[in-house]
Amino acid sequence: MSTVAVDVTQVVELACRAPSVHNTQPWRWRFDGRAVELRADHARQLRVSDPAGRNLVISCGAALHHALVAAAGLGFTASVARLPDPGDPDLLARVELRPDRRPTPADTSLLEALRDRRTDRRRFTSWPVPEEQLVTLAEHASRRGARVLPLTGVTARRTVERLIDRAVAAQVAEPALAEEQRAWTTASPTGGIPASSLPPQDHPEERRDRFERRTPRAMADARVVASDQVLAFCTARDDTAARLDVGETLSSVWLRAQQIGLSLVPLSQVIEVEPTRRALRHDVFLDMAEPQLLARVGWLELHRHPLPATPRRPLTDVLDLAPGS
Ligand SMILES: Cc1cc2nc3c(=O)[nH]c(=O)nc-3n(C[C@H](O)[C@H](O)[C@H](O)COP(=O)(O)O)c2cc1C
Repeated sequence: MSTVAVDVTQVVELACRAPSVHNTQPWRWRFDGRAVELRADHARQLRVSDPAGRNLVISCGAALHHALVAAAGLGFTASVARLPDPGDPDLLARVELRPDRRPTPADTSLLEALRDRRTDRRRFTSWPVPEEQLVTLAEHASRRGARVLPLTGVTARRTVERLIDRAVAAQVAEPALAEEQRAWTTASPTGGIPASSLPPQDHPEERRDRFERRTPRAMADARVVASDQVLAFCTARDDTAARLDVGETLSSVWLRAQQIGLSLVPLSQVIEVEPTRRALRHDVFLDMAEPQLLARVGWLELHRHPLPATPRRPLTDVLDLAPGS
């Protein structure tokens, strides 16, 4: 293997630290000596909760942005072609890498944020998130096609909370969905969500997430709490390119949040359930934007213990190196 291929391997390994729905890591990579290709891996698709592959492509978009952050931090200039082959829609991106960049302090800081990022589902503190921080995050996102809209209005917040409750109730009532979720929260050394990343069941007051065993009473309490802020990731269209943008934007906003000490937790259930996605689109966005993902944002306790990193598939399962590269 050439020294460039060794460094590219590192880029891909860091890209695979990206968040993905249920930690499915639904991606494959190939390096041909000049460029890395990113492909959707439908064998890892959540057939019940994500039949259209929305969360799958968003996850791959996050991995693409992670790859660009890793490339810059490791001294590569990257040029990206998104969806480069109309005849091959699973080929999501082709990234040419040239080992000629001198990483800036900003590149290094972002790479550090990538390494430290976790989905931390512990309950946020009640410290308010100043509106200007939210605006900064939203502006950070607007460089790509997806928009990030802070949902600060009381009416929108109430509607969102009601729709989240409806989505959770719909999913709890569907046995195939519960089964799919159980399969991805059962311990595996290479994927899924380990118990160590979920706040303990015996402290229900610390739980604000979909993996809680919910009684109808607990479900009614499982709202986004008042001091949490909610961000909506939206696009103008609802196709693969838009979803890829959302994933890149999610990663970009999440790493920025990490840098300023804010925690971000995606909330995708309201989008996964078609009637609540349509209601959100209509009631909150007046049919003028396609909501693709929600996330809650807030401050965690300062003196919390850090969460362990969730596992990833071995690189040999996800990366092909062309012979001679
Ligand atoms: C598209 C997408 C949807 C997600 N939806 C949720 C969700 O509804 N609830 C949740 O707690 N985490 C959600 N997550 C976070 C993943 O579970 C998390 O990224 C994965 O388990 C890997 O863990 P890590 O982020 O700590 O590396 C989502 C992530 C992505 C990319």
